[in-house]
Amino acid sequence: MARIPAPQGLPIVGNTLQIPSHSPVEHFVRVASRYEEGIFQLEIAGRTVVLAYDPDLVAELCDESRFVKRINPPLTIVRDFAGDGLFTAELHEPVWGHAHRILMPAFSQRSMKAYYPQMLEVAEQLVESWAGRQGEDLPVADDMTRLTLDTISLTGFGYRFHSFDSPELHPFLKAMGGALTEAMLRNQQLPFVTRLKRGHEEAYRRDIATMRALVDDVIRQRRAGGGGGAKDLLGLMLEASDPRSGARLSDENIRDQVLTFLIAGHETTSGLLSFALYNLLREPHTLARAYDEVDRLLPGDEPPSYEAIMKLDVVSRVLEETLRFWSPIPVFAVNAIEATTIGGYPLAEGQGVAVLLPALHRSPKAWERPEEFDIDRWLPENRQSHHPGAYKPFGNGERACIGRQFALTEAKLALAMVLRRFALSDPNVYRMKIKQTLTLKPDGFTLRVRGRRAHE
Ligand code: HEM
Repeated sequence: MARIPAPQGLPIVGNTLQIPSHSPVEHFVRVASRYEEGIFQLEIAGRTVVLAYDPDLVAELCDESRFVKRINPPLTIVRDFAGDGLFTAELHEPVWGHAHRILMPAFSQRSMKAYYPQMLEVAEQLVESWAGRQGEDLPVADDMTRLTLDTISLTGFGYRFHSFDSPELHPFLKAMGGALTEAMLRNQQLPFVTRLKRGHEEAYRRDIATMRALVDDVIRQRRAGGGGGAKDLLGLMLEASDPRSGARLSDENIRDQVLTFLIAGHETTSGLLSFALYNLLREPHTLARAYDEVDRLLPGDEPPSYEAIMKLDVVSRVLEETLRFWSPIPVFAVNAIEATTIGGYPLAEGQGVAVLLPALHRSPKAWERPEEFDIDRWLPENRQSHHPGAYKPFGNGERACIGRQFALTEAKLALAMVLRRFALSDPNVYRMKIKQTLTLKPDGFTLRVRGRRAHE
């Protein structure tokens, strides 16, 4: 039987010390480029970590009768603060099924239409904020974070962060960034090292307390307002019961879910929008097509309707190709239900395999000219030829992203509003530098805008 390729490590620590603590994914991608097999394994902090990026192997890993998501590191660490919220609950925990079925209606296309006025309200705040800062270097990732955090909190919980009113990011975000970075570092260090770093532990506990205090405030405000009636995420969690078992969510689980949605519901979409703007600035022809589309479908100054946003095709394909090129969540993992093989490589029962999206999404086996940003890959006639295992930015199967439509609706709207109003430029000629805090974002990316209308 074939052996999974493995770069040489050191006794006891294995490959742990070879992995740069603040950019592990970039390191994995470099290692991946050495192994055409599309799979390799590392020994990290006493664990065997298998990474796969060959599309045939990934197609096998996406067979849910053979592989299932289990909560492995780093998600076991994220559970310190996200508890058994949807992202970090085990599939076999009854609470995952209860919450999944209670919340699914909140992510239907009909619900997107219901959230639309609030999504629009926040997108207008972004555009107004940029209109007042023309000619300045705009911090793209920070402003996209303001947009996405305010959108999920307003639509999901009726809670306002007022992020565009302040030059500083909300303290919740600093605490979240600290906790996610610490989870990533802990994932790569032996447990005794974690125990030795007392200062880190104190900061970590403080960050978790800051996030929890905010969550309590969100729930308190809703209950103070009578609590009833709202059909948003929090309304469903407080009032609905699981249609299958009749179970309701406990107060503790609701807190875990609110925190999960506050994090999962903004961090990734913010990365997607930041990378999309970066790509558009690198691809003037695509940018011109996007301007043309928004001018055609969203003429005038009136707020765009939900129906008009749903018709955007070039903008949608920019987002799909951006998710191929830069997946904000670079890795998701599954475990073998029984001992098995993939592509002839043996996997023991329970062995975890991480799907390495940046390498998969640029695999020459699946994509022609993988290093080219080409939105026409996503034309209907070209989609049919895509390899079934080659594109997984939202994960797989039952545990795939529940917020996919939410993210794409919000991102389409925000991008269209920006393109309709502003000409974009990058006089500082930004060079991509990835920042990883479990998710990826372009670090230090700024751009400038000026009004496209005659009077601006
Ligand atoms: C799960 C990606 C936006 C909520 C996931 C997973 C991926 C992902 C890859 C699977 C993780 C795994 O298998 O361990 C993304 C990307 C987004 C995005 C790329 C934006 C571009 C959102 C939004 C929300 C959300 C806007 C909420 C409003 C969740 C939740 C889960 C999840 C709750 C866990 C689902 C479960 O296991 O039941 N996401 N996501 N995500 N996402 Fe997203």
